[in-house]
Amino acid sequence: MAQSDENARIEHLIDEMTLEEKVGQLTMLSGELVQTGPASAPVTSEAIRKGRVGSLLNLWGSERVRDVQRHAVEGSRLKIPLFFCLDVLYGLRTFFPIPFGESCAFDAPLWEKTARVAAQECAVEGIDLNFSPMLDVARDPRWGRTVEGPGEDAFLAGRFAEAKVRGFQAWGLSAQGVVAATAKHLAAYGAVQAGREYAPVDMSARQLHEVYLPPFRAAVRAGVAAIMPAFTDFNGVPMTANAAILRDIVRRDWGFSGVMISDYSAVAELIAHGIAADKAEAAALALNAGVDIDMMGHDTYYDGLPIALEKGLVKLETIDAAVRRVLELKTKLGLFEDPYRRCGTPSAIAATAAQGKRKDLAREAACRSFVLLKNKGDVLPLRDVQTSLAVIGPLADAKGEAREPVAAHESVAGTAIPVLDGLRKAHPNAKVAFTPGSDVVKINATQRAAARELARSSDVIVLCLGETMAMSGEAGSRGNPGLPAAQCELARMVLAQKKRVVILLFSGRPLVLPDWLVEKAYALVAAWFPGSEAGPALADLLTGRFNPVGRLSMCWPMDVGQIPIFFGARPTGRPAAANDHYTSKYLDMPNEPRFPFGYGLSYSRFELSGLRVDRAQVRAGETVTISVDVVNHGPLAGQETVLLFIRDQVSSITRPVLELKDFQKIALAAAQRGTMRFDLAAEDLSFLGPDLAPKLEAGMFDVLIGQSADRSKMLSTEIELIL
Ligand code: GLC
Repeated sequence: MAQSDENARIEHLIDEMTLEEKVGQLTMLSGELVQTGPASAPVTSEAIRKGRVGSLLNLWGSERVRDVQRHAVEGSRLKIPLFFCLDVLYGLRTFFPIPFGESCAFDAPLWEKTARVAAQECAVEGIDLNFSPMLDVARDPRWGRTVEGPGEDAFLAGRFAEAKVRGFQAWGLSAQGVVAATAKHLAAYGAVQAGREYAPVDMSARQLHEVYLPPFRAAVRAGVAAIMPAFTDFNGVPMTANAAILRDIVRRDWGFSGVMISDYSAVAELIAHGIAADKAEAAALALNAGVDIDMMGHDTYYDGLPIALEKGLVKLETIDAAVRRVLELKTKLGLFEDPYRRCGTPSAIAATAAQGKRKDLAREAACRSFVLLKNKGDVLPLRDVQTSLAVIGPLADAKGEAREPVAAHESVAGTAIPVLDGLRKAHPNAKVAFTPGSDVVKINATQRAAARELARSSDVIVLCLGETMAMSGEAGSRGNPGLPAAQCELARMVLAQKKRVVILLFSGRPLVLPDWLVEKAYALVAAWFPGSEAGPALADLLTGRFNPVGRLSMCWPMDVGQIPIFFGARPTGRPAAANDHYTSKYLDMPNEPRFPFGYGLSYSRFELSGLRVDRAQVRAGETVTISVDVVNHGPLAGQETVLLFIRDQVSSITRPVLELKDFQKIALAAAQRGTMRFDLAAEDLSFLGPDLAPKLEAGMFDVLIGQSADRSKMLSTEIELIL
């Protein structure tokens, strides 16, 4: 149908709709197949036939969706199709690593590929819109939703945003195998006070614009179909009602014309926030701020907007504009032409899931997400396969830790391969693991005794520790993001056996680890929650079939007392100096994290040298090419990730001590040399001036190349920006 005809259909429907039908289109209710917010009664067919709802979440599956959609397109007065949404952050049937783990791959093509597969799986099981990617920069590992996001840096988060939107939306919303993406949760949700879930957010407008908005702007530039405001406030104005950001920045300044979907009951929660006295005020605040759809808001829009209209709190044209955007989305999704277009046949579903490359991709993504944090004496890769290998610890056979929360539903439960199975297959003589079930916080004396015996009779021990999925994610903040006491006790006992111990850490965030554990372990691997192919992928890593490439997208604090801690901090007038009392440091711990942003070991030894620039000066509109030589000293072929940072030496507003401007990978065989080139445009040296608009200032810039944000190990040169 031509664009003009589509627009005509939309305008005709708006003219035909009653006010109730209009606010029905702005209401999203839950099918309650899974619960992702406060429990409520699932949507009814009667509500659908009456046009009281325009979209659903948490209901998927071809037959289920067909049954529900039929009530809308056959049973309602105007026969407007619903659209169906789900949280699929790392897979629906094929589970990839958690997004935080994937971000440690520093690999945009990989991020796009896994989103593409997830979209294909969604697009045959009735899902039209995915509440993903989550783009909240996180610098506080106490916050449970670190697990869903792309780490601590805005630049990396921006690359992640672009790749995920491309992956989900690919070649346009009406194409086969495509779903609409949602950039969430705008914005600064990751900066909740004290890392406590849903807590207030208070920061400067500068920090919001420098750190927390850029990933969402990248998603808008990539054409993201929807945006979800955060539950939280920004300096006293809840995002759901924040017209200054949603309407004036996102819609007006960025030109976002897609749909804004509130978070779960967030419109109703404006009353709890204390800025609305009732549903009418809450509905008016959210709609006037630009929020089109009220998700599970206890009918705040449905009940509140008619009253708000009557009271003059909203205009009918504002309601119509929101309805128009919702109908435009449904048009782009192709739902008017074919409301069942994403309800695949069983054979289509089977064909999609059966594609062997999905498992391979899940295994590769898991391998690329792992970060090797320590490898004393090159204990890894495990060489002598006859080694008697013990697999110990409460997460050795944990299946749940490899799955998307949504996939807890019985239709896909249990599809993850745990570590134990993967290691047994790779090491047939791997002894039975000591695994006290999936309870990671209670390990009794009998179980400890069994572990001691197993450890005593083994040469190498793989100790599986960390969090369960339930200790992470939404409403999963932890005041002390470390290992449960029982696990520390188990680890002390195992390490006391003086054997070679490899510790695998499963978590949705950087963990605060005790010094003795880091010192006594031979190897430490951050495994995150690795997905369907957890076991095979970890076996690939431990046996050397895969040479680790992962790098930390968020630094690991030494202690909770350092939080928030991140590499892009602003300078101080008294930078830390060990021998100078009056400088910026702690009396009782270092300033530095245990492991910095970008840190990660390989089984190969890579060396950077010969940093050079093709020009000493750069003008607006010009680009400087930065080159660096890399050699792989072996022993294995591998991939190195190289990071490009800048530091503005003098500027009218203080600049972070390091700013990430690019990252690239290079694959080299043992003893092979290569050269990497980075193009840095003069505009990449801009910063936000006093008015928070991008600004270039002449002057000298450090250009730094490194394998992590540890400046002491970087190569550095200078360029001059001339205006
Ligand atoms: C949840 C989350 C959001 C999710 C939504 C629907 O509360 O905050 O990320 O998309 O509800 O499940």
